[in-house]
Amino acid sequence: MKTTITKRMTFCAGHRLFKSGLSDEENLKIFGECSNPNGHGHNYVLEVSVSGEIDQTTGMIINLKTLKQVIEREVVAKVDHKNLNIDVEFMRDQIPTTEVFAGKIFDILDKALGKGLLARVVLWESENNRFEVSR
Ligand code: NI
Repeated sequence: MKTTITKRMTFCAGHRLFKSGLSDEENLKIFGECSNPNGHGHNYVLEVSVSGEIDQTTGMIINLKTLKQVIEREVVAKVDHKNLNIDVEFMRDQIPTTEVFAGKIFDILDKALGKGLLARVVLWESENNRFEVSR
């Protein structure tokens, strides 16, 4: 038996898909309108899934309040209403695609939660685009 619990959180952030070293024209060719010079924003939905042993004392894998606090502190506080290209330390020098962004979030939460608890990070960039990272 394996139990997985998922916390869903939302935040807004802006970005411009851009590879430094390439011209605006080349970037536009690769990333299309996502490379418009002044950027654009997304309403991201983040789903963080944790799985592991159920603690016999609490009946929980992790206290959902604790999980929420970790996600808020480690991710949401750092990215909400920010520009991913400029304001976010862990996205510096990265192409801020949602693949890369979701991977960074996975690494950060994996370290913060420890014990191999983190099972999966899903990041919705829009209603139709879902990015999933797992071990
Ligand atoms: Ni975008």
